[in-house]
Amino acid sequence: MQYPLNLDKHLEPEVCSGMDDIRREIDHIDRTIVSLIGRRAEYVVAAAKFKTSETSVRAPERFATMLVQRREWAVAEWLNPDVIEKLYRDLVQYFISEELQHWKKGFSLDKVVPWGRSYEEYVNMFNLSDADLRQRILGCGDGPAEFNARLSAHGGHIVSFDPIYEFDASQIQSRISEIYQTVMDQMGRNQSDYVWDVISSIEDLGRIRMSAMNAFLMDFETGKRDGRYISGELPLLPFAKEQFDIALSSHFLFLYSAHLSAEFHLQALEEMLRVAREVRVFPLLTLDGKRSPHLDFVTEHLGKQGFSITVRRVPYEFQRGGNEMLHIERSPNGHLVGHAQKDA
Ligand SMILES: C[S@@+](CC[C@H](N)C(=O)[O-])C[C@H]1O[C@@H](n2cnc3c(N)ncnc32)[C@H](O)[C@@H]1O
Repeated sequence: MQYPLNLDKHLEPEVCSGMDDIRREIDHIDRTIVSLIGRRAEYVVAAAKFKTSETSVRAPERFATMLVQRREWAVAEWLNPDVIEKLYRDLVQYFISEELQHWKKGFSLDKVVPWGRSYEEYVNMFNLSDADLRQRILGCGDGPAEFNARLSAHGGHIVSFDPIYEFDASQIQSRISEIYQTVMDQMGRNQSDYVWDVISSIEDLGRIRMSAMNAFLMDFETGKRDGRYISGELPLLPFAKEQFDIALSSHFLFLYSAHLSAEFHLQALEEMLRVAREVRVFPLLTLDGKRSPHLDFVTEHLGKQGFSITVRRVPYEFQRGGNEMLHIERSPNGHLVGHAQKDA
């Protein structure tokens, strides 16, 4: 319930008969001002859905013209414009940070379909040996996959990185519930695009995915506190050079080639290669089952930088034809590879 904004029935300053009257009036005016700031905040929240980028949320030009106008209003009211500008500068900065939070949440919840694979699927997709599993691993775009929960429970060293980790477990769980049926219906309509052997049916798929995502949800809050789930977005990684041995990307790079440019892919892979000595990406297919059009571009550029690049056959195929991963590592002798070598 908002505070009534009517100032009409209150005493004019010149008819106040003592400090009690004056203090009551000042309290009433300040209460009204705070209530109006609350109303202002509602418009700020409403604005978030019309903003298309962080810059449009910050709107630096609008900020500058607003301050000039508030200075003019201050002069018109016989107030010190510097004081009023400072007041608005602080107030607007506060609202911008609030608006950014709303904008980021709206952005992620609208766009992200959290969907996570099982531990066994990760091991097979990336052909991870027991020795690999003892390395320091970074999972980029791991979302609600089970890999981190299971590997760390067995003493492995794993950090997962994904924008959805900005949310808490209950928010991610609700988003999974919201999209679950849509994803399953879509899989049902496109059954012939998948290989139904290890995963034997749509029902089996639903069971495997939900069991993996539940394992993630159970582990998430503890893992986040332990620094195993870090929120953020490629193409930048908040990690030190060579902080990891192996960086993985499952069902993010190449799969979304229609949404993410070739340059984005190259930047993301270079960044993964900065923080890890070896990178593995699975699958090499796009959402519609075609080989990614960005594959040649990135292998050519990384090859020229001296990385050793191979396309390797792996013991996993669910999306039909998706049984290869890209393997990139620093070449021990700095030798140039150029294009991806086939290692089937
Ligand atoms: C299809 S899911 C794959 C989840 C998991 N890797 C798996 O295979 O089960 C794609 C994931 O990429 C994440 N993602 C989206 N944009 C990203 C970005 N710029 N950087 C890192 N991850 C991102 C999404 O939040 C989502 O969790």
